[in-house]
Amino acid sequence: MKTTVVAWDRLDDIGLVRHLEAVASRRGLALGWVDASGGGVLPHHQHDDACDGRGCLGSVCTQLRDSADPWMVLSPHPSMREIAAPVTIGRSIVGALLVGGYAEGSLSEGEIGLLGELLVEAAREVAGSAAVPIENAAVADSAPTTAFGGIIGGAPSMQSLYATLARVARSESTVLIQGENGTGKELVARAIHQGSPRVDRPFVVTNCSAFNDNLLDSELFGHKRGAFTGAVSDKPGLFEIADTGTFFLDEIGDMSPTLQVKVLRVLQEGTFNRVGDTDTRKVDVRIIAATNRDLAAMVAAGQFREDLYYRIHVINLTLPPLRERVEDIPILAAYFLGKQRHGSRDKELSAGCLGKMIGYPWPGNVRELENEIERLVVLSGDDPRIDEDLLSARIRHHHAEPREEISLDPGSLPAAVESLERRMIVDALRRHRGNKTRASADLKVSRRNLIRLVQKYGLDDARS
Ligand SMILES: Nc1ncnc2c1ncn2[C@@H]1O[C@H](COP(=O)(O)OP(=O)(O)OP(=O)(O)O)[C@@H](O)[C@H]1O
Ligand SMILES: [Mg+2]
Repeated sequence: MKTTVVAWDRLDDIGLVRHLEAVASRRGLALGWVDASGGGVLPHHQHDDACDGRGCLGSVCTQLRDSADPWMVLSPHPSMREIAAPVTIGRSIVGALLVGGYAEGSLSEGEIGLLGELLVEAAREVAGSAAVPIENAAVADSAPTTAFGGIIGGAPSMQSLYATLARVARSESTVLIQGENGTGKELVARAIHQGSPRVDRPFVVTNCSAFNDNLLDSELFGHKRGAFTGAVSDKPGLFEIADTGTFFLDEIGDMSPTLQVKVLRVLQEGTFNRVGDTDTRKVDVRIIAATNRDLAAMVAAGQFREDLYYRIHVINLTLPPLRERVEDIPILAAYFLGKQRHGSRDKELSAGCLGKMIGYPWPGNVRELENEIERLVVLSGDDPRIDEDLLSARIRHHHAEPREEISLDPGSLPAAVESLERRMIVDALRRHRGNKTRASADLKVSRRNLIRLVQKYGLDDARS
């Protein structure tokens, strides 16, 4: 059975809806929705008012026929206005998103247009990401240890990831994948492409931190012959190669502001220019972006464009670090043992060895685990049993520290505050493996301030 449902109660999971809500509430407006069965929340109603969703959807459908815009202004009362955009799945209008409750004449044409366009975008994301074929919605119930394209893990956080992936893959939405190093961001990006209607189209990957600005510009967008020294012929960029397919922009947090603008234009209009070329080109590319940096903090610090952030943040997947899903370590270890050559299929980790692995915090996450298994397989030679004495020293000698408790001596607020401050700094430095720039962005303090605090608390070697 192929029933599609729109998860109206989970609209807040959609980045553009949250953005729209923020933009609307700054103007004192409310967000609402109606679905085809007449249910919904109308922005001009109080909670106890009856909601005439059907009537509202009816006006949307009628006006849509005569409207030049894909959004419309409704008048639920003589002096009251709402802006609406239909949520369309296939050829059916299954509902509408609304913003409003404003008095006629209180918004400028420009503001109405902006809200209308945001509504259309948000409605498209709602249709794309919330349309769940029921048969796939059951994924989470069967407690799989793997779902898409070789992603292994049965932890609750992974299962909810699979459920989201099932929905996301089918949509055309832009996806932002966040997670520490080695948590599987690229693996997940490939899985999304493989589960998408674009599966037979190109999947192109580029790492934005691997090039300087000029090179990345020409890499992404191509160049015209003679555009710069060394540009001996016309060259298409990766966006052209990815046309009709999926483009994985890895480490997008490292992209310069100039290129952020160009990428934003591709996302908004599907157009760009090769370096040195005045011809505007058009592409149809689904973008999946990844980063291990905290983009929200970068936006707050003015290091990443807010408009681009909202564009790519439509669907946000955060991959859990391995230390927060230790129950997956045994299955991952077994999976990687099975993947090794050297006849490792019959090898087994001793209980002591596995115990040490579970106690280790894995700053390099799944990649580090995979490397460790490969190393163990080589070192163990013909021995089918792998003991803990073969483990890398950092894992063998790691002593799981009992988590430092915050001292909440009720007599001393300053001591409690210091204790919390110290603990947050230790955690952030661990998360970013001692990288103070990233830790400070995460903590939303300046780098200088962080260095001062690190000295104050004597944390200079707090990494592990
Ligand atoms: N859940 C998982 N199941 C199986 N293999 C995994 C999983 N997560 C990661 N891996 C493996 O770990 C390695 C690292 O994964 P990947 O390159 O996708 O991580 P990443 O988050 O992109 O890392 P980086 O931040 O360093 O770019 C790959 O070999 C990948 O196949
Ligand atoms: Mg990667």
